[in-house]
Amino acid sequence: MNIIVIGATSGIGRTLFEKYATDGNCMGIVGRRTPLLNELCQEHPNTTVTATADITKLDETAQAIGTFHARLKGIDLAIVCSGTGDLNPSLDYALELPTIDTNVKGWTFVIDTLYHIFEQQGYGHLVAITSVGGLRGGSMAPAYSATKAYQINYMEALRKKAFKSGGHITVTDIRPGLVDTAMAKGDGLFWVMPVDKVADQIISAIRKKKTKAYVTKRWHFLAIINKNLPFTLYRLL
Ligand SMILES: NC(=O)c1ccc[n+]([C@@H]2O[C@H](COP(=O)([O-])OP(=O)(O)OC[C@H]3O[C@@H](n4cnc5c(N)ncnc54)[C@H](OP(=O)(O)O)[C@@H]3O)[C@@H](O)[C@H]2O)c1
Repeated sequence: MNIIVIGATSGIGRTLFEKYATDGNCMGIVGRRTPLLNELCQEHPNTTVTATADITKLDETAQAIGTFHARLKGIDLAIVCSGTGDLNPSLDYALELPTIDTNVKGWTFVIDTLYHIFEQQGYGHLVAITSVGGLRGGSMAPAYSATKAYQINYMEALRKKAFKSGGHITVTDIRPGLVDTAMAKGDGLFWVMPVDKVADQIISAIRKKKTKAYVTKRWHFLAIINKNLPFTLYRLL
């Protein structure tokens, strides 16, 4: 398969890259940290194409995706991992802005660009790593939970659009709970899952063409409780 991973330099995206590349797939990888992209490319030099891009910079993002489109000659699977978020209990607007720029403005450009490519090809599987954190507003990181809610709804919109257009495009929303990467911030975190296990479950969900999947599976249980908890109880957590 020809696979693109946007946000492949660390954490979930990097682990997905390593697993898919080891399985012999042709890979296109994006991130801002060029040395890390080069390091990954050296692991699988004959089957990896890299492009440095900050997804909040639309020109360089369009160029990066265009490079893969041209070099790989068809994209079977695109996984959008890029994301950011900060704890912001003091509601500092300057801290919220990069989260909104990355998780909403840049992310939407990436998702739309990939969706258009799949429409032109007549096939393709679009995957976004959203978050369990998008199911409810979180007081410690308001922009993070709100932007992840945006992504969850956007992916549902595209799933509906794909269905109405004949179902040639598959749209999968992956919702991780806490994962042991740089993104998991704060004290007293619980059920922090190893990234390797999370990546295996993501690959399994993608293979099964799931519409959405909670990873790891135990987080599905927590997500159901979290989503249905009345606000009078939720506010106490
Ligand atoms: N870890 C968790 O507990 C958790 C839970 C739920 C959901 N998630 C989601 O999982 C996704 C991956 O996060 P992670 O846990 O693997 O954390 P991570 O190790 O910090 O990875 C984040 C990735 O996003 C890329 N990225 C960030 N800003 C970018 C930008 N402006 N342009 C291009 N790429 C950018 C980073 O690459 P560069 O820095 O090289 O650009 C990096 O490859 C995120 O969307 C996150 O919200 C994580």
